[in-house]
Amino acid sequence: MAEPARVLELAGASVQVFENADHAALAAADRIAGAIRSAVARKGQAVIGLATGATPEAVYARLVSLHRAGGLSFAGVTTYNLDEYHPISPHDPRSYRAYMHRHLLAHVNIAADRAHVFDGTVPRDAAAEHAAQFGRWIAADGGIDLQVLGIGRNAHIGFNEPTDLPVPEALNLPCRPITLRPETRALYAVEFGGEDRVPRALTVGVAEILAAREILVLAFGETKADPVARSLLGPLTAECPGSLLRAAPGRVTWIIDEAASTSL
Ligand code: PGA
Repeated sequence: MAEPARVLELAGASVQVFENADHAALAAADRIAGAIRSAVARKGQAVIGLATGATPEAVYARLVSLHRAGGLSFAGVTTYNLDEYHPISPHDPRSYRAYMHRHLLAHVNIAADRAHVFDGTVPRDAAAEHAAQFGRWIAADGGIDLQVLGIGRNAHIGFNEPTDLPVPEALNLPCRPITLRPETRALYAVEFGGEDRVPRALTVGVAEILAAREILVLAFGETKADPVARSLLGPLTAECPGSLLRAAPGRVTWIIDEAASTSL
């Protein structure tokens, strides 16, 4: 079990700072494994919200090795992924469905109908209804026990991008289609062959994220120092979606490395 180098209490959250990203990823995986075991023991099912991107890759690798070593079953696990591009084929290696398959789902004993990722192939005029339905499935499963989150360089959570909405409205944003902001499209431009070729996206809402019983935010590396500091120390504003996590005091744990902690 990796231990944090230091623990801070900031903005109603516990902030665990690890010496490096490897230690942080191990600790995050152990925390997720613990949440799975305790929810399955308590109610026969664990509902886990999952994130994609570079940050959680080592976390999924650790969960797979725990599973292979016989220490973690996914038999009672239901997952909901935070976001997906739209439109995109699930066979496109850039899709988050393909990412999840590669990094976790193909390697553990999760039931095929319990691993939910938005369908990137729904017609454009059906995307809003599909996203709303995704939210209803989460609710029908009793909500999310543990939500794994990354944070974007612009402080987005899932694909809830910065907006000028008043905070009360931002806190209620539901699962929905979204147009990615230019700075996000710029980050993915190489992958998609140009900024204007980056697809739109579907995202779990701020409301569903905040309703999770436990929220684990992962941030590794110096490019995350600014969004981490703005989320924890800056104003509570929808311009910084990470700051909206303060609306869930006592339920948020940040697991970060030293590099991501330098502006705290
Ligand atoms: P990353 O993405 O893990 O690839 O940095 C995080 C995010 O955009 O939420």
